[in-house]
Order: sequence, then structure tokens, then C-alpha cells
Amino acid sequence: MKIISTPEKLCKGHYLLHIECAEDCLPGQFVSFKLGRFTDPLIRRPFSIFNKNGNDIEVVFKENGRVTSMLKNMTDFSDVDVSGPYGRGFTVTENENVLLIGGGVGNAPLHYLSKVLKTKNNSITFIYAARSQEFIYCGDRFCTESNEICYVTDDGSFGDKGFAADKLKSVIAKTKFSRAYICGPTIMMKSCAEILIKENIPLEVSLENYFGCGIGICSGCSVDTVDGKKRACVEGPVFDGSKLLWQYL
Ligand SMILES: Cc1cc2nc3c(=O)[nH]c(=O)nc-3n(C[C@H](O)[C@H](O)[C@H](O)COP(=O)(O)OP(=O)(O)OC[C@H]3O[C@@H](n4cnc5c(N)ncnc54)[C@H](O)[C@@H]3O)c2cc1C
Ligand code: FES
Repeated sequence: MKIISTPEKLCKGHYLLHIECAEDCLPGQFVSFKLGRFTDPLIRRPFSIFNKNGNDIEVVFKENGRVTSMLKNMTDFSDVDVSGPYGRGFTVTENENVLLIGGGVGNAPLHYLSKVLKTKNNSITFIYAARSQEFIYCGDRFCTESNEICYVTDDGSFGDKGFAADKLKSVIAKTKFSRAYICGPTIMMKSCAEILIKENIPLEVSLENYFGCGIGICSGCSVDTVDGKKRACVEGPVFDGSKLLWQYL
């Protein structure tokens, strides 16, 4: 796998990269980046698959720390090792009425999911949450893949004012869904999961916790579930949201 484009700025702090990849990828799986040939930065970083078109994968990254700050200014990727896809992806249903809830850069894996769900004749309602309008990326592309899209921003600068959980309450009051999928900051996923569990709506969540090895060896990414500890990099990052012990996340 190799990076085949320089980073394209999408919105404040968010960039798009194209990667050549011949492997099949499931929505919710991730690819892993190692920058440089030496030990600094040492640890690989995971990034979700935003889209796949033939052998072209797209990844959206948010400038967050060391690796993403380096990546956004790079033009030569010969020393960047990209591998994957890794992890357990989302369940792809057929002919269902499904709800997707994304927060910030966590909307990225749900874009690829919505594209695949659409090919399986699902009806898709998408709640796209962001801090403010300046952090919304690829809005038109999300619209194309969904039957209905609801934007919600913390400050009300685009769509409704409020949080994803506020919008979720009003959406499920009007429409019945057979399944929900969530990806975003832990606090947002937790508040949405509480509501969905109470309403008995099955939910899958993609965790974005910090990884060490990224391949199942170090247990650094372990999360507590009703079935014991699970490694997010191999048994996840997608989990049944009703089985996670949210109080420990
Ligand atoms: C499955 C998965 C998919 C992901 N997909 C995407 C994606 O599509 N796009 C995207 O932008 N990001 C994604 N992420 C998040 C991304 O991998 C991290 O934000 C990554 O750390 C960024 O690397 P960095 O070097 O830029 O930042 P880092 O330098 O790693 O860290 C950024 C910030 O996190 C803090 N931090 C670092 N390690 C820890 C730790 N162990 N515990 C708590 N805080 C810590 C640092 O202090 C710093 O403030 C994903 C994560 C996972 C697990
Ligand atoms: S990051 Fe090492 S086991 Fe998951």
C-alpha cells in the first residue's frame, strides 16, 4: 500500500489522502501509518477508511499531534509505510432502516459505511455532528450517500444547535430504526449509546482509542466488555455498543 496524493485540505485542520490499495476493505476497518525509517515516531497510527473506489482508498485525517502535523506538510511519502486493512468492521445489513451518527473526524468511517449500505438497499438517515461549520468536511459527499442527513453543530453555525444526542432523541421520536452505527468522541458515543440502549435499538460503535502495536500484541488498546477485555485493534474497533462497559471508557 502506498500514499499516492499530497494532503488536500478539506476544512479547518482536516486533510484528505489517497492510498493505493488492492485489498478488499470493510467499512469500519482501518489502515495503519508508520512515518520514517527510524524509531521516532515509534508507534504506528490508525486511520479509518473514508472511501474506497477500485484500488483507491481515501483517508481523512485531523491534525491532532506529532504524526498528523508531519503528514499534512509532506510531499514525499517514500518513507511512510502504510499497511492494512485491519480490524473488525461494521455489520452490513440489507433492506433495513438504519441510523448513522458521526462526530467530528469520526464521521469518516461512516461515509464508507453509508456508501456500502446504500448498495444493499438500506434507507440511511445520517446525523452529522461537528463543533462548528468550519469543521464540516465533504458535506456534499455525505448527502449523496444518505437518504436524509441532519447536521448539528455545538454552536449552531450549521444545521441545528446542540449535540448529536439531542438530535438523536428528536430523530428516533419520529422514525423507527432497526440498527444504529456510531463513531466519534467517546463522550458523544456514550451519550448516544445510552439513549439507543434504552430504546432497544441495536447499535455498533467504532472506538477511536489510542493504539500501541495495532496488531493484537501489547493489549494497550483493551476495552472492558460484558464478555471480558477485548483488544480494539483486532476484536474491534467496531463493537456491539450494548456490550461495552461504558463507565470504564
Ligand atoms: C480505529 C481508529 C481509527 C481512527 N481513524 C482516524 C481517522 O480516520 N482520522 C483521524 O484523524 N484520526 C483517526 N484516529 C485517531 C488517530 O489515530 C489518533 O488521533 C492519532 O494518535 C493521531 O496521531 P498524532 O501523532 O497526530 O497524534 P498523537 O501525538 O498520537 O496524539 C494526539 C493527542 O492525543 C494525546 N494522546 C496520545 N496518546 C494518548 C493515550 N494513550 N491516551 C490519551 N491521550 C493520548 C496526546 O497527548 C495528544 O494530545 C483513529 C483511531 C483509531 C483507534
Ligand atoms: S494496540 Fe496493541 S493489542 Fe491493540
